[in-house]
Amino acid sequence: METLVSFTASPSAEPTLADMARVPGTESGAVQPSLLPRTQPLLEVSGLDVWTAGSHEEIRLLESISLTIREGEFFALVGESGSGKSLLCSTLMGILPTNLGARGDIYFDGGPLAAVDRRSRAMIFQQPSRYLNPVRTIGFQLTETVRIVSRGSTHEAGERAISLLEAVGIEDPRSTIKKYPHELSGGMNQRVMIALALARRPRLLIADEPTSALDVTTQRQIMDLIEKLRADWNMAVLFVTHDLNLAIERSDRIGVIYAGQLIEMGATDAIAQQPLHPYTRNLFSAVPEISLNKVKLVALAGGVPDPAIRGPGCHFAPRCAHAVEACARVKPAFPDALSHAAACHNLGLGHAAS
Ligand SMILES: Nc1ncnc2c1ncn2[C@@H]1O[C@H](COP(=O)(O)OP(=O)(O)OP(=O)(O)O)[C@@H](O)[C@H]1O
Ligand code: SF4
Ligand SMILES: [Mg+2]
Repeated sequence: METLVSFTASPSAEPTLADMARVPGTESGAVQPSLLPRTQPLLEVSGLDVWTAGSHEEIRLLESISLTIREGEFFALVGESGSGKSLLCSTLMGILPTNLGARGDIYFDGGPLAAVDRRSRAMIFQQPSRYLNPVRTIGFQLTETVRIVSRGSTHEAGERAISLLEAVGIEDPRSTIKKYPHELSGGMNQRVMIALALARRPRLLIADEPTSALDVTTQRQIMDLIEKLRADWNMAVLFVTHDLNLAIERSDRIGVIYAGQLIEMGATDAIAQQPLHPYTRNLFSAVPEISLNKVKLVALAGGVPDPAIRGPGCHFAPRCAHAVEACARVKPAFPDALSHAAACHNLGLGHAAS
């Protein structure tokens, strides 16, 4: 089945201060805006749904996702395994699996995403070794990418490949380009993956759990590198992680995703100081249990519900200590503004503990 993303409306107008102060689903729980726009919107997603489009009944995997990432912004997307982080990244890259359909408005730099050169976005993954060609040298892979992007001579592409390896902190690039991926450490391969991404000169770097498979020291080095490149190259970054504390350490804004829905969004300081959603508050105390590259929160019983059996109301209800009668029946409205907002019927309660 063909993957479709429709573009039906013009980009959203700048939110008013009233929009920015609104907490969807409540009249009383509004919080003051903590992020005033600093730069232009680069990516605007509005009402994005992704569903299985096979012969059986449609199953919604992403539901009414709306978010804005501004030029040069570091936006962290946080959630457990199975919450839909990679699906959102794939949709933004235009690489959704063919059994899935997508519908919604996505604008990049003011125009429909589908009309924008794919090189404007680049993605790096958790396990670079799976995406690097094992039988080609690093130099071959980088040079080919550079040649496709800039159409220069082989010599120019080779020199550019070396400068890209230097940009990502590889100390001996002339020797590294002769090596194969299996001859490099996980951290070095991740640097190569970032160099491949940079070869496209992206305005948005999508990083899908790029440090989860690395040791703590290398994780920090890669995070420092991404931050430095963001500044040097004036790139926006969509950084995917299951680690809320890491997101708080590094990002400007955070979106928390649960069971295919964005359930809290706001400036990082605001979320760090006063997380609104019961799930977000659980994320702070959660110790991730990592097996087979899947992350589950051991502080919370149960897991993200299977998309095929999600009910009509709040998908977090079966795990929520603050659920009220309406929660399982009525879906809370999703956050869609630049303010700090959360999708919950009961925002006034449970701020002390979860
Ligand atoms: N091609 C597909 N067909 C059907 N369902 C899919 C497909 N790809 C993903 N899903 C389902 O969509 C949901 C979200 O998957 P996704 O890979 O985006 O989660 P994630 O948040 O990236 O998890 P993780 O942290 O484990 O990487 C899961 O329930 C998954 O099983
Ligand atoms: S209080 Fe209700 S709406 Fe809010 S997270 Fe819990 S179950 Fe969901
Ligand atoms: Mg994923």
